[in-house]
Amino acid sequence: MNIHSASAFTFLCFLTIIFPLSSSNVQSQDLTFKYCDKNAKYSMKVSAVKASSNPVVRGVPFTINTTFHSDEAITGGKAQYRLKSDEVDAVYTYASNVCEEKQCPVSAGKHGLILDMRFPAVAPKGTYHMNMTFVDQNGKKLTCIISPFKVDDATTK
Ligand SMILES: *[C@@H]1O[C@H](CO)[C@@H](O)[C@H](O)[C@H]1NC(C)=O
Ligand SMILES: *[C@@H]1O[C@H](CO)[C@@H](O)[C@H](O)[C@H]1NC(C)=O
Repeated sequence: MNIHSASAFTFLCFLTIIFPLSSSNVQSQDLTFKYCDKNAKYSMKVSAVKASSNPVVRGVPFTINTTFHSDEAITGGKAQYRLKSDEVDAVYTYASNVCEEKQCPVSAGKHGLILDMRFPAVAPKGTYHMNMTFVDQNGKKLTCIISPFKVDDATTK
């Protein structure tokens, strides 16, 4: 059920897509998100984006759980992530071929998408925006959302 791919950037990052929604539930916090283009008619509608922690702690694995509804069966394509600091010049990108290690087509309907990743301990702290874009095998955008989150060090309480 898992998709593991080499990362294009320096920190460890792997993507796991679970179809259908996993019954396991990590304690999570809802992230705000908006569509890249509010007028676009995306065939994938996102209903929730949850982070296992917020702020995300540098050097510690975390999970982004995106719940979406797809109007169409997914027969191919890529998930692309771009994580950009608001404050400094730091961008991390990642892409995964959905069907490379996952049996397609993925049925129309509601699904959960789990992204497991980790910022390096030396990543700049602060506010980041994640651009998450899905494209189908023809390069057509299935969905595109922007979600902000904070990256910090662990606090001792
Ligand atoms: C992901 O979020 C959905 C919707 O809130 C939830 O049903 C599911 O259990 C979550 N999955 C994980 C692994 O946390
Ligand atoms: C998000 O990423 C997609 C794919 O790279 C791009 O087309 C789109 O313009 C980006 N949107 C924003 C608001 O950054």
